[in-house]
Amino acid sequence: LNGSTVERATPWWHGKRDALLAQADAGTPRYVYDLATVRARARSMRDLGALDRRFYAIKANPHPDILRTLEAEGIGFECVSAGELAHVSGLFPRLDPTRVLFTPSFAARAEYEDALRRDVWITLDSLPPLTHWPELFRGRQVWLRLDPGFGRGHHEKVRTGGSGAKFGLPLSGLDAFLARARALDVRVFGLHAHLGSGIVDPQHWREVFGRLAGIADSIGSIAALNLGGGIGVPAEPDAPVFDIEALARVLSEAKAACPQYALWMEPGRYLVAEAGVLLLRATQVIDKDGVARIGVDGGMNALLRPALYNAWHEIANLTRLHEPADRRFDIVGPICETGDVLARRRALPHTQEGDVLLAATAGAYGAVMASNYNLRGLPQEVAIDE
Ligand code: LLP
Repeated sequence: LNGSTVERATPWWHGKRDALLAQADAGTPRYVYDLATVRARARSMRDLGALDRRFYAIKANPHPDILRTLEAEGIGFECVSAGELAHVSGLFPRLDPTRVLFTPSFAARAEYEDALRRDVWITLDSLPPLTHWPELFRGRQVWLRLDPGFGRGHHEKVRTGGSGAKFGLPLSGLDAFLARARALDVRVFGLHAHLGSGIVDPQHWREVFGRLAGIADSIGSIAALNLGGGIGVPAEPDAPVFDIEALARVLSEAKAACPQYALWMEPGRYLVAEAGVLLLRATQVIDKDGVARIGVDGGMNALLRPALYNAWHEIANLTRLHEPADRRFDIVGPICETGDVLARRRALPHTQEGDVLLAATAGAYGAVMASNYNLRGLPQEVAIDE
């Protein structure tokens, strides 16, 4: 951490309790997205004045109202599959294709063909596309995703750089890639590095920029650098919020040092995490061997992050928001897995069957990672606005 202590504002959902209880009455599990919060985060991205282009990694949350809100704020889209590309072009049939990036991992030839037909920016991160399908790329411009040899993030499973990760061309492969590109008259237009997710230290992007700029200088054809996404959104109430102003300074210094390179970024989580809450209804409250558990009607099937990454989401009892939190509970879902635990040992009011519980900071990688495991229905999703 860089020692920043930016004040944490009261989350939007405190002021929308009645509306959220009404939403829960329409059915749970249910994600609710506050578009005003999405807009506010988009505007703080705009305050990163040194950035030339901003893209949203739609994998975090492809809800149409969220995409419409971000498009209206001038933000482009980063896609990783033919499905995501089709989703964006279905919503915005006349969108300028240069506002779309295609950054897949181990994609099949047909997916590159699809992206080429759409004329969006394509990022390669390995040699085989150029050696196996030269006819696709001959004479084109591409981006190159590099792995400078390290990754960062909130959990080992979301670090996308370094030898343990499958992403990015290692620097040892750079000469062969560039030689092949030259032979095919492929211009490497930009260098890209996305090294992980949930990174809370803004100095990370200084380091990424330094690595990419150094390599770009030696290549010569590079016009732009994409510093990736990964901006963290600490969820614990006592954790400092991400210091976006420190990131703005890092980017301005980068721009001042190398004005010849356009700077792009492609965050997902930062734009949507705090905008989303998951509403759940308590099914049973049980004491077993000294552990009190609140069962809710959506668990790892609705919100996988705690089970997959041990991720921390604040849990509130919305029905009893203003009652004293005088007991500790585990919050568990209905899935037949011991790991189906949303939160452990949380202080909450005396909860009863039928109460509405809320999992906060669930707007990113929530609904989109849900499953119908145990043949439970997918959570509903609703966007609300001022
Ligand atoms: N760019 C690329 C190439 C990516 O792979 C990702 C995320 C992003 C940008 C956006 O990263 P963000 O700004 O959202 O951190 N399911 C995990 C996160 C996986 C991130 C995958 N890639 C989680 O729930 O924490």
